[in-house]
Amino acid sequence: MKALIVYFSQTGNTKQIAESIHEEISKHADADIASVSRVDPGTLNQYGLLFVGAPCHSSDLAPPVKGFLERLPMSPDFKLAGFFTHSTYMPDHGEQGTKLYDRWAGRCHLTFEEVSREKNVEFLGYFNCMGKASPDIEAFIKREIITDEVEWEKYLPELRRHPDTNDIKNAKNFALEILGKL
Ligand SMILES: Cc1cc2nc3c(=O)[nH]c(=O)nc-3n(C[C@H](O)[C@H](O)[C@H](O)COP(=O)(O)O)c2cc1C
Repeated sequence: MKALIVYFSQTGNTKQIAESIHEEISKHADADIASVSRVDPGTLNQYGLLFVGAPCHSSDLAPPVKGFLERLPMSPDFKLAGFFTHSTYMPDHGEQGTKLYDRWAGRCHLTFEEVSREKNVEFLGYFNCMGKASPDIEAFIKREIITDEVEWEKYLPELRRHPDTNDIKNAKNFALEILGKL
């Protein structure tokens, strides 16, 4: 079984997760890793497992990854797993975390699920974690989303440390879980 990890990453967070998954999968199987712009969706049938990763942009998977998923072949030989990074809290971060996540990142896993149904590909699951934001996105979040000063002071240092070592560990465990489902 050969695996491919495909990702898009503007500022490196999703790439870091992709590399962790690749590192873990490589211990158990033949695994390639590539940026989404370098992968022709027509050449994927040599793989038994495809991981696809994206940053969350405008509440959904970033457009280069959505475009890639739309170009996947129908009923392929590979199974699919997804991962994404986002700047909203994780959904289990209290009531506010759930609300923000649902509004600002909650579509990401649904897109993986919808594409899998449309393409008749088996979807094995997804991983997500927070990822620090670029200065303009931080400014947007402060202006539009986390406008309360006290909340902002708690949120910003938390955001800036992700992906952290725990996220990397969780991403590797996720990779193992996916392998276990094959
Ligand atoms: C144009 C743009 C739009 C974004 N929109 C969202 C969003 O809707 N929800 C969210 O949680 N994060 C959003 N982010 C933050 C990114 O998802 C986050 O910083 C991610 O970890 C970046 O990953 P990368 O370093 O791999 O590019 C946005 C970032 C950019 C650049």
